[in-house]
Amino acid sequence: MARVQNKVAIVTGGASGIGLATAYALAKEGAKVVIGDFNQEGAVLAAKEIEGFGGQAIATFLDASSKESIKGLVEKTVETFGRIDILFNNVGLTDLKKDLDVVNLDLDEWDRLMNVNVKSMVIGCKYAIPYMVKAGGGSIINTTSMAGFAGDAVRTAYGASKAAVVNLTKYIAVQYGKQKIRCNAVAPGLILTPAARNNLPESILDLFMKYNSLPYHGEPEDIANTVLFLASDESKFITGQTLQVEGGHYIANPSVPDLSTIMG
Ligand SMILES: NC(=O)c1ccc[n+]([C@@H]2O[C@H](COP(=O)([O-])OP(=O)(O)OC[C@H]3O[C@@H](n4cnc5c(N)ncnc54)[C@H](O)[C@@H]3O)[C@@H](O)[C@H]2O)c1
Repeated sequence: MARVQNKVAIVTGGASGIGLATAYALAKEGAKVVIGDFNQEGAVLAAKEIEGFGGQAIATFLDASSKESIKGLVEKTVETFGRIDILFNNVGLTDLKKDLDVVNLDLDEWDRLMNVNVKSMVIGCKYAIPYMVKAGGGSIINTTSMAGFAGDAVRTAYGASKAAVVNLTKYIAVQYGKQKIRCNAVAPGLILTPAARNNLPESILDLFMKYNSLPYHGEPEDIANTVLFLASDESKFITGQTLQVEGGHYIANPSVPDLSTIMG
């Protein structure tokens, strides 16, 4: 039997990057997938692609900054497939022109990122959990980021919002565990999505490679496979955890490269 056979999964931000790879991975393993995205055209293309390889999927417009839109996504899922088993809260973003150091940070950007990166996940859970309880359980996976674990010169709001997601994940796991609802998070390091490939200069990619413990970059499928594991019953005793999928970029003492040079 496939790993998530006949389970019903919502994927937010499923039109591209990590969400798209995860929608494919879930569908290939038997899930019925609902793709919600601001980019409706991309979501429709993704659903068609899934149908093309024999999977089941529908696409719907989602504005993750709107409570009504998120509620609509949940209701459409239940109307179409009758239940919800998996919720992948994946939408998240930042604007590097506005999300700066704390003195120069645009405070409206702070509010926007908290709204889209954290509150959207709270709202998704608020409306999906009662259906999961009815279905006898479920698995929620939230996308955080390694930016939620370490400080940076900029991206203050993004980092704080992603740190909030880590603890939100534990709260949900504690509150609904007895109803067999698990909640975990995945924390990607740099993942070479098409957007990252197109926008990041070679020098930055080289820098990440230099500090990764592994000799390669992360790809959307690396996150998709982690989410698939957390969505499936293979992880049935794991809840409240954040799996860091980051190539060993953040595991070493930062002085290791310099120490290695000194020690020869
Ligand atoms: N790519 C990375 O290196 C990386 C690293 C760490 C964390 N992440 C996190 O992974 C998640 C996915 O990122 P990605 O790199 O795949 O990005 P992406 O830009 O490739 O995909 C994001 C998707 O979300 C959609 N979206 C954006 N805002 C939306 C909104 N308000 N409502 C509905 N849909 C919206 C976009 O249309 C897009 O399809 C995010 O939470 C991001 O913070 C990514």
